[in-house]
Amino acid sequence: MRSQYCNQVTEQMLDQPVEVCGWVDKRRDHGGVIFIDLRDHTGLLQVVVEPDNQAAFQIADDARYEYCLRVTGTVRNRPEGQANERLASGRIEVVVDEYEVLNPAKALPFMLDEQAGEQVRLKYRYLDLRRGKMQHNMRLRSRLNHALRHWLHNQDFLDIETPILTKATPEGARDFLVPARMHPGQFYAMPQSPQLFKQLLMMSGMDRYYQIARCFRDEDLRADRQPEFTQLDVEMAFVQQEDVLTTAEELIRSTFKEVLDVNLPNPFPRMTYAEAMRRYGSDKPDLRIDLELVDIAEAVKNAEFKVFSAPANDDNGRVAVLKVPQGGQTFTRKQIDDYEPFVKRYGARGLAWIKVNDKAAGREGLQSPIVKFLDDEALAQIIELTAAEDGDLLFFGAGNYDDVSQYMGALRLKIGEDTNRVAAEWRPLWVVDFPMFEWNADDKRWDALHHPFTAPACDLEQLKTAPGEALSKAYDMVLNGVELGGGSIRIHQSDVQSAVFELLDISPEQAREKFGFLLDALDYGCPPMGGIAFGIDRLAALMCGEESIREVIAFPKTASGACPLTDAPSDIADNQLADVHIQTILPETDE
Ligand code: AMO
Ligand code: AMP
Repeated sequence: MRSQYCNQVTEQMLDQPVEVCGWVDKRRDHGGVIFIDLRDHTGLLQVVVEPDNQAAFQIADDARYEYCLRVTGTVRNRPEGQANERLASGRIEVVVDEYEVLNPAKALPFMLDEQAGEQVRLKYRYLDLRRGKMQHNMRLRSRLNHALRHWLHNQDFLDIETPILTKATPEGARDFLVPARMHPGQFYAMPQSPQLFKQLLMMSGMDRYYQIARCFRDEDLRADRQPEFTQLDVEMAFVQQEDVLTTAEELIRSTFKEVLDVNLPNPFPRMTYAEAMRRYGSDKPDLRIDLELVDIAEAVKNAEFKVFSAPANDDNGRVAVLKVPQGGQTFTRKQIDDYEPFVKRYGARGLAWIKVNDKAAGREGLQSPIVKFLDDEALAQIIELTAAEDGDLLFFGAGNYDDVSQYMGALRLKIGEDTNRVAAEWRPLWVVDFPMFEWNADDKRWDALHHPFTAPACDLEQLKTAPGEALSKAYDMVLNGVELGGGSIRIHQSDVQSAVFELLDISPEQAREKFGFLLDALDYGCPPMGGIAFGIDRLAALMCGEESIREVIAFPKTASGACPLTDAPSDIADNQLADVHIQTILPETDE
């Protein structure tokens, strides 16, 4: 239907005939001449309908916003002084011979160049996706997928699809279930990841596997989480941790080069989980922010201020300081106070602070609600440990190690943003040496920190005697504070797998019922293996500079897991429910 895209019509084509299609971006009338900015995904092209072309003029007269058009015409120079240097096609225009409305448009629910609410954007997603920004995001994501596939294919990775209707493949979230019509009362589970299948593929001799795989997790949603999302899932046989890290890093480096022409560092820095928590209060530190936490427990062990001395003397406690250079000068008292409710949302009890006005003056040079609770020696030691200078502001978090790390880590990010400390850089890193397990205080049991198929870094004896101290061969790739991917070396021996299930309180019967097929396969010549999965939505969002992965997903769900476009999820007719042997029991509501 067309000879060129809009921005392919250039000065080189003067006096030539063209056929172009697109949407009406703007229409202007000037002294009886109609000007239309015709838009397609490549850009804008000015189309002119002159009154002497009566047939065209009559229909063009009711050209409205977002009408879908096809025009044929001739390229000519714009008149003197009318060129638009910001457009590729800004020096020329097309004077119309034939003008065809392919489809008119009703008045739009929102203007494409204006902000609109998420509900309406998603309800009319096909309009929303016409916006330049969304066109850019979708196209970048497509190039990203292509670059990933291309690299992996060249490295002999096989692209293999795994089932969607399957048995639970656990990653720690709730499963989405699908009733099985032919097996009354039974259900398929949708995979939370292809984890078990990719392990089976390694056992099958496929050697290297990848898949751009849809994963399903019924969990609470946030800006960086969707109930269905896409992973680049990778697995390699006969490898150790180092092999996977090198390969994954090279993949991401070459993809950034190809898609964004960005050179990421080589190699990526590595940091243990323990160090990440200690210095950044997070297992996905944003290294663009130059602030770090400092532990000051040793300075306050003997303080009479119990808020500090109690955790300082507790093995599971932490007293940490976040120093804001010159924050004492730049923050108002109200700004300082406002950070307390912020950390309280993360479970903090309070947020003590000290303004260092004049450190040479000792206690007199410090301004704070807590100096009165601390002796001179403790104060001097705090100043020394934090290397505080006059003008600096110190925030204190005291309590349980994990809680303090979490809220002081969140405070670090918040203050980093509030004080414009987020450097415009790409700062990837590997976080390694994760603990095997984390203690679930509610259920009084160990949970797998990664997933239950992750290999321990210690031997079986140590694993059983001190599970809380055991480290795993798991790793995360982090970029600018986003957990981009995670993986591990897998358990490839059934005695180790059984021991881990036992520690996780999964009985042999339960293990057999849930993962019998995997346990069986471990007894038939299973190679050592490891892999990783990247969140493609998160990778695309980072590359597009978007805060939310919803901006890089064509048809995402809202925060409540709904799709305003299709109205999913929706009621199902009784006969359809009966087909799959389902009766619903609804929760009681006020109505
Ligand atoms: P994991 O659970 O860490 O590992 O997931 C891998 C990556 O997937 C992305 N991700 C998500 N993205 C959007 N919405 C979600 N709800 C969501 N959940 C996870 C993250 C994350 O780093 N089978 C293992 C991988 C392995 O061990 O090889 C797994 O799924 O970017
Ligand atoms: P209080 O004696 O409880 O009024 O606390 C004195 C100061 O310590 C206040 O500024 C509180 O915000 C702060 N504070 C209280 N609990 C903690 C805590 N767990 N960590 C850090 N600061 C705290």
